[in-house]
Amino acid sequence: MNPYLEKLHRYPFERLALLKDGLQPPAKPHIAMSIGEPRHQPPAFIAEALVGNLDTMGSYPVALGLAELRVAAAGWLERRFGLGENAVDPETMVLPLNGTREGLFAFVQSVVDGRGDSLVAMPNPFYQIYEGAALLAGAQPFYLNTLEENGFLPDLEAVGADTWRQTAILFLCSPGNPTGAVMDLAYLQRALELAVKYDFVIAGDECYADLYFDEDCPPAGLLQACQAMGHDRFQRCVVFHSLSKRSSVPGMRSGFVAGDPGLIKPFLLYRTYHGCAVPLFIQLASVPAWQDDRHAAENRHLYQEKLTAVWPILEPVMDLPRPQAAFYLWPRTEQDEESFTREAYRQQNLTLLPGSYLARDTADGNPGKHRVRISLVAPLAECVDAAERLRHLVNQL
Ligand SMILES: Cc1ncc(COP(=O)(O)O)c(C=O)c1O
Repeated sequence: MNPYLEKLHRYPFERLALLKDGLQPPAKPHIAMSIGEPRHQPPAFIAEALVGNLDTMGSYPVALGLAELRVAAAGWLERRFGLGENAVDPETMVLPLNGTREGLFAFVQSVVDGRGDSLVAMPNPFYQIYEGAALLAGAQPFYLNTLEENGFLPDLEAVGADTWRQTAILFLCSPGNPTGAVMDLAYLQRALELAVKYDFVIAGDECYADLYFDEDCPPAGLLQACQAMGHDRFQRCVVFHSLSKRSSVPGMRSGFVAGDPGLIKPFLLYRTYHGCAVPLFIQLASVPAWQDDRHAAENRHLYQEKLTAVWPILEPVMDLPRPQAAFYLWPRTEQDEESFTREAYRQQNLTLLPGSYLARDTADGNPGKHRVRISLVAPLAECVDAAERLRHLVNQL
């Protein structure tokens, strides 16, 4: 067997199931706030496009994907990030993905030379796929703690030159899961300067780009930073985008990667062998989804409404940083995060996720300790009910 498989860590939800095992919750309706699975109604026009294109199931798709999907994705990037017309070449700069998870994993396999001692740098806490992808590619994960004192962003200046020299890929996640923190253009440009100086690739996981809480402040993107620095071919950078969160269709498995043609071309070769072409009916239903911004705004407004409702209930009783984007809360807990999670289930029938399950121990500690992740994915009334139960719990403890 591949010895790297043994290096993989248990998935957070497996650990959560063990933590809850044997506990008896009270007879209140259960509210799951642990998993980051969008639960808003998927838009009808996407479902119609899916059904209307089922006749394509008789044909094999190719890894490059349909031109119309690449055009729609490039058009959305240009609109969303103000890149200007024709800034993103759909022929050479975009590939469809079966959701970003698959693409994030596969990208690392195509970039890392596993015979060396390459590092894959990533935020800590993080989306666990970055780490698993690095380990299975034969690289070492390098954890960059995201702490409140640094605005929940990795402190790029704290990393030594030797570490950067060993780095093959830097993962940035903005808006961040689980912190809800956003990297501004200056931060992204600094990361880019380092990438040029030390010769590494930046993979920007931007799957929450359309879910932000201040309607007037859409988060910046990595391709925007490239453009601002005159890197019009997005050298050394790729970004990952998804319909899962933007359009509330996580089960559709549709996303794309875009950026440096010098990275996209070998990635296409990798994908051809890997056999992860996106089914044609999924691609064809994704075209109108990327072309339409209205449903994404409506979806975003539902999350804004939930934060507005939940905030005044929890903020007075918890140390609760206000997220800028995505759909998570990342409060500090007085008790250790596992006990708090257990008590939330045992006393209130709420499932939360201990922050330490999303992070790793480092020489400076585990940045998920004394934090829990709360997903605002349930309907508004359930989120409010959960917040009230949590407030009650905090007051009790
Ligand atoms: C930070 C982050 N990246 C990527 C993904 C994967 O999303 P998908 O594969 O549905 O596009 C998720 C899903 O929860 C996520 O939180």
